[in-house]
Amino acid sequence: MITFDSVTKRYADGTIAVDNLSLEAPTGQITVFVGPSGCGKTTSLRMINRMIDATEGQILLDGEPVQGIDPPTLRRGIGYVIQQAGLFPHRKIVDNVATVPYLLGWDKKKARDRAMELLERVGLDPKMAQRYPFQLSGGQQQRVGVARALAADPPVLLMDEPFSAVDPIVRTSLQDELLRLQSELNKTIVFVTHDIDEAIKLGDRVAVLRVGGKLAQLADPKTLLSEPADDFVREFLGHDRGIRRLQFIRTDGLRLRTDLTVPEDYSGSTAEPWLLIVSGDNRPIAWIPGAGGEREPYGSFVWNRDSMRSALDAALLSPSGCAVAVDDDGKVVGVVTREAMDEALAVVADG
Ligand SMILES: Nc1ncnc2c1ncn2[C@@H]1O[C@H](COP(=O)(O)OP(=O)(O)OP(=O)(O)O)[C@@H](O)[C@H]1O
Ligand SMILES: [Mg+2]
Repeated sequence: MITFDSVTKRYADGTIAVDNLSLEAPTGQITVFVGPSGCGKTTSLRMINRMIDATEGQILLDGEPVQGIDPPTLRRGIGYVIQQAGLFPHRKIVDNVATVPYLLGWDKKKARDRAMELLERVGLDPKMAQRYPFQLSGGQQQRVGVARALAADPPVLLMDEPFSAVDPIVRTSLQDELLRLQSELNKTIVFVTHDIDEAIKLGDRVAVLRVGGKLAQLADPKTLLSEPADDFVREFLGHDRGIRRLQFIRTDGLRLRTDLTVPEDYSGSTAEPWLLIVSGDNRPIAWIPGAGGEREPYGSFVWNRDSMRSALDAALLSPSGCAVAVDDDGKVVGVVTREAMDEALAVVADG
């Protein structure tokens, strides 16, 4: 666990970058620092590994003040990833990743084996190992940066806007990859970003900072979206926080109908407004009006895996206003009618 205990950083010119910050980043969790430019995120992060020293207060690592640990020893247990990856341009990828193991005096073979294992772990082709950083895309370089930070298996990982220099699609895949890695590794991660969506996606806990280095709110993403502490946080979260909150709500509260599917050769008519045509192996094909008419497209979501946000999206994708719930194989589990969606959304809005 990383503890900030009334930490203040005043730079030589009098700038107060961090003001009396107290919070905990729990072991094995991702704590995100988010806030506008200049609010003290980088300063806070760098005080953890003593690239910057606090002016007042202290930071503790599992109860031990970092002030009392000499920086090289401290940094051995802390991986650090920055924007643009910060790779050594004249070293091959494999040697970049093995930087810390080399420093720790591992023999060359062991360090390189470890580097190769990590490259694979972060989703890079082993062929990349012999290249130089300039021969990789920005997203690939970021993966190398993550691999390098993990090389000596440090319990703590500090990440300062590591994915902000890549395009949105690569960024999404890097975020997914980090979450997948974290589910195996359980590192104590402090992740800095100015992107609230990234904070909400990655954070077990999110600390929202305001300029002047003051903590505005510390909460899990769901609480942050439903109970912003003040106008600053509300504004920072943006106007669609109601919709975003749906991504934390499971679909198992939705009432499913299983009596509205019909086979491809169906030609009857019913009082139900919409029927779902399914294939012989029970996959969705299209909606048709119950009284007969043109086929209309459908939207689907994976039952009990996707969120209410996906379910609502599926309903909005179809003129029927109904959503199709499928299982992991894409087979129909049931359908959510407009009425059922309304009921569920009313429950969400109530609490
Ligand atoms: N060496 C320094 N000397 C004086 N002021 C500094 C120094 N480094 C940072 N600052 C100031 O401290 C404040 C916080 O800076 P910091 O880099 O921690 O912000 P940040 O939240 O990481 O911003 P960004 O999102 O732009 O990276 C800013 O006002 C910045 O200008
Ligand atoms: Mg910064």
